[in-house]
Amino acid sequence: MNRRFVSDGHLVDSGILPKILNVIIQEGAEYRIVAFKIGQTNLQPSHLEFELLCDSDEQLFSLTKKLVQLGCYEKTLSEGLIRRSEIDGAVPDDFYSTTNHRTEVYLDGRWQEVANQRMDGVIVITDRGPECRLLRDVRKGDRVLCSSESVRVFPPERDRQSDIFSFMTGEVSSERSVDVAVAEIAEDLAEHRAAGRKVVVVAGPVVVHTGGGGALGDLFRGGYVQGLLAGNALAVHDIESVLLGTSLGVDMKTGRPTHEGHRNHLRAINTVATYGSIAAAIEAGALTRGIMYEVVSRRIPYCLAASIRDDGPLPEAETDMIKAQARYAEIVKGATMVLMFSSMLHSIGTGNMLPSWVRTVCVDINPAVVTKLADRGSSQALGIVSDVGFFLRALRDQVFRGAPEKAESRS
Ligand SMILES: NC(=O)c1ccc[n+]([C@@H]2O[C@H](COP(=O)([O-])OP(=O)(O)OC[C@H]3O[C@@H](n4cnc5c(N)ncnc54)[C@H](O)[C@@H]3O)[C@@H](O)[C@H]2O)c1
Repeated sequence: MNRRFVSDGHLVDSGILPKILNVIIQEGAEYRIVAFKIGQTNLQPSHLEFELLCDSDEQLFSLTKKLVQLGCYEKTLSEGLIRRSEIDGAVPDDFYSTTNHRTEVYLDGRWQEVANQRMDGVIVITDRGPECRLLRDVRKGDRVLCSSESVRVFPPERDRQSDIFSFMTGEVSSERSVDVAVAEIAEDLAEHRAAGRKVVVVAGPVVVHTGGGGALGDLFRGGYVQGLLAGNALAVHDIESVLLGTSLGVDMKTGRPTHEGHRNHLRAINTVATYGSIAAAIEAGALTRGIMYEVVSRRIPYCLAASIRDDGPLPEAETDMIKAQARYAEIVKGATMVLMFSSMLHSIGTGNMLPSWVRTVCVDINPAVVTKLADRGSSQALGIVSDVGFFLRALRDQVFRGAPEKAESRS
């Protein structure tokens, strides 16, 4: 069985060409290069055309799926195979499952870009064109894409810009200079703010435990961040640190456990519950600074997704997981940069919602977590192994060095 494929893009310096050839060899098939035109400059794409020679239909089917993920598409274009869903929340078994990379579908004689790109979704053909949809959001009668032959994926290519994302992405190493990363990210944040682009932060309670809460609050106060995705604990310990000077009962100044400090996060929850909400506590003047103060009083969109280990939870915590996921997706929509600070749970949850072209910075002390988060098959993901409190304070100092009028910290 033969089939002819085409691929265009930065195939050589992004390492896509060897991946294409290797996958064919690994599957025991053969190829014959029909044409290859290498880009003459850094910006010029290359063009590849090859014949795939397979022993069986099964091999051809399996390899086609893999080659599509690497950006290959069939030379003889065929219309996407569409089947109707027969039941709410389920699709025909041969459905196409999405990646987080930019994707097009060949429909009505032209390539059409898929909207709301994210990984682990299906593609539904609507009146507006093809759209990514979660399985549970598919409705009976929806038109679902069921073939990969008519799909074109744009795998990540090496970044053409000369910034930190072009020279530090791909691998994660604790030897990397955090200073360099801090300076570049601070510059990126300033550019985002100047251009009115959206930055979203994902953060866990370790931010507060490590003394980074004040610095993160300052980034919200300075207008550098437009959304917060977290769980119950970030807000609980932030409020504990503001009201009682401890985080998980540990004195924020001395680093020593305090007498009966183990009650302190419950006292924080109790105070908020007494007022009825974080907003009401702020309104009453009981909460006057901190991350949640900056976020709530500035009406910055946020979601505290609850989990099984939560104390309380705070009245604002969203205990319905489906609603929390939907709210996360709504807040992160349109973001061009997402900063993930020491929350494996919420960072992975958010990462799954993001298309691969959104700039993502993940800071965690554990290299394995950083690798998992930064390895989204994206040239736009940067992993930094660092103590998050240290990182955030350095980032805040660097950001406000360029904008001294905002430098007076409230928290
Ligand atoms: N009292 C509470 O209600 C309570 C307390 C804790 C957690 N929780 C909830 O449990 C869930 C999971 O919590 P999570 O996000 O903290 O846990 P997580 O395990 O998902 O993530 C914590 C991350 O922090 C990293 N980390 C640890 N020390 C660090 C440091 N010094 N610098 C940088 N990174 C560091 C770890 O490597 C890990 O990846 C959340 O929903 C949270 O709200 C609730």
